[in-house]
Amino acid sequence: MDLTPKRAAESATEMVQVVLPNDANPLGYILGGTVMHLIDIAGAIACHRHTRSLLVTAAVDDLQFLHSIKVGDLIILKSHVTCVFTTSLEVQVDVYSEETLTGIRQMTSTAFLTFVAIDREGKRIHVPPLIVETELEKRVCEEAHQRRAERLRRKEQARQI
Ligand SMILES: CC(C)(COP(=O)(O)OP(=O)(O)OC[C@H]1O[C@@H](n2cnc3c(N)ncnc32)[C@H](O)[C@@H]1OP(=O)(O)O)[C@@H](O)C(=O)NCCC(=O)NCCS
Repeated sequence: MDLTPKRAAESATEMVQVVLPNDANPLGYILGGTVMHLIDIAGAIACHRHTRSLLVTAAVDDLQFLHSIKVGDLIILKSHVTCVFTTSLEVQVDVYSEETLTGIRQMTSTAFLTFVAIDREGKRIHVPPLIVETELEKRVCEEAHQRRAERLRRKEQARQI
């Protein structure tokens, strides 16, 4: 496993696709489940590019759908790694709609996901460090540590149910 530190820009990913009728509910809007699927994929791609390893999704934080995206519009997903821990890493995925004819863009969701790096036997492995340089990157990573603590607290709660 190559543990050379990397910048978030090296793994940042943008996915664009048109919303087709098959992706939509009877109102002509993309299904929430389809958006969640695409968020998982966009997040995973950025994390694969960072780790160059196998990964599993460990957690997806609360998800809000602020605007609907209609058939014929574009859905754009931008993902970047925000913080790396030991065997896990957090990625942010921002989702936008874009009207094909006008180009009007709206942010529709922001999601934080945690992936865990594993080898072919399913054993957890270390992930390459993230180079955190700017004040913004440092703040985002500090916030990611707080989100991680909250996730692990909620995981512990879920285990006790
Ligand atoms: C995710 C999974 C590997 C964690 O296994 P585990 O034995 O509970 O993990 P550990 O407690 O040893 O933690 C391993 C790492 O995962 C992180 N982690 C585990 N559960 C987490 C959660 N719910 N949220 C955030 N991070 C989590 C830990 O913080 C730790 O990270 P670190 O090494 O960077 O400090 C395991 O629960 C699993 O395989 N879940 C199913 C995954 C899956 O099927 N996903 C969907 C399809 S890919």
